Amino acid sequence: MENEFDSVFPKSYVMKGGEGPHSYAQNSTGQKSAIEAAKHHLQNAITKKFDLKAISASSENLICIADLGCSMGPNTFIAIQNIVEAIQLKYQSQNQSTPEILVFFNDQASNDFNTLFQNFPPNRNYFAAGIPGSFYGRLFPKQSLHLVHTSAALSWLSELPKELTDRSCGALNKGRIFYTNAPSEAYDAYQRQFKMDWEAFLQARAQELVDNGIMACLMNVINDIDFKVDLYLGKDFELLGSCPMDMAKLGLIQEEKVDTFNVPLCSLISSNLDLMKILETSEDFSIEQSEVMDNNCFVIPNIEYFVSRLRAVLEVLIENHFGVGIVDELFERFTEKVREFPKIMDVPKLKFHLFFVVLKRKVKA
Ligand SMILES: C[S@@+](CC[C@H](N)C(=O)[O-])C[C@H]1O[C@@H](n2cnc3c(N)ncnc32)[C@H](O)[C@@H]1O
Repeated sequence: MENEFDSVFPKSYVMKGGEGPHSYAQNSTGQKSAIEAAKHHLQNAITKKFDLKAISASSENLICIADLGCSMGPNTFIAIQNIVEAIQLKYQSQNQSTPEILVFFNDQASNDFNTLFQNFPPNRNYFAAGIPGSFYGRLFPKQSLHLVHTSAALSWLSELPKELTDRSCGALNKGRIFYTNAPSEAYDAYQRQFKMDWEAFLQARAQELVDNGIMACLMNVINDIDFKVDLYLGKDFELLGSCPMDMAKLGLIQEEKVDTFNVPLCSLISSNLDLMKILETSEDFSIEQSEVMDNNCFVIPNIEYFVSRLRAVLEVLIENHFGVGIVDELFERFTEKVREFPKIMDVPKLKFHLFFVVLKRKVKA
């Protein structure tokens, strides 16, 4: 029988660790710009919605914050600093001294926590701890958190939809690694998994947050777009997906492996159509604020960065599936294809928006 702690050891698709040229730490300025774009809304939400009475009712003198899907930095430190600053200002404005703050940095067990720990800001004004495990399950004791933050992490599914991995269904998404331009069965399977995962995420956080505790989530969305016919959306994955297929034709990798490789990411969702519907049906959380923002700071300086930012995110996943040794060639082939089709890097045409939502844990009856 499963116990509630089993979920802390999930399947793993973490970002590329370390601080080398292909690491997430060196290739996540896009995600950093999202955190910067949301800073004002996040701090505003804390000013208006962070309930000091909820803190004093639940603990003597300690505020517990969790950043879920923190990776190895540096973006998580920026987000946490923004949160801590806003909390301190709120206490100051009420002539109260700020309680001690403890921040839990969570990511999957195989995340590069060493790099994270080594780069903890030296003059930070909070205590820090790493928490390994999947945020789709329970990570913390009941009613122990006051504020949860997560950015660029909730598009990652807990696992690939069963329909894509069950061999008895055939290779449902043959020839693709993502759900753009995919058969509607594959698209629907991704959407179903996304919904189930969000529900599991909300259920776990509902137990862990104190009454009136808040949760701020930041992620990419697309709105008012039919990505099935849009030229640009998902094109990077389509182009990348064609590389292992070319390599299979040359006998460099097995075709069967290519057919069963899919990226467990549901990044092209509509905040209005998909996510808000899920949030609105939650019995545990109220929606306190939601913003759709342009991410004007997101720039792609050159082809190398365009390729590296995808490599930083997908290298571990690709190696886990195909084995080590194909990644360099795969991304060299991808770089060539991007050179032939540079329009793919046209950020405005990607039509990405940022979605920032603040939820509050309803007081239990
Ligand atoms: C794109 S990174 C975002 C990192 C950081 N929040 C930022 O904004 O730069 C997504 C992170 O979410 C983590 N992640 C994905 N699924 C997860 C899960 N189920 N539980 C915990 N972390 C997860 C990944 O390992 C990865 O480090």
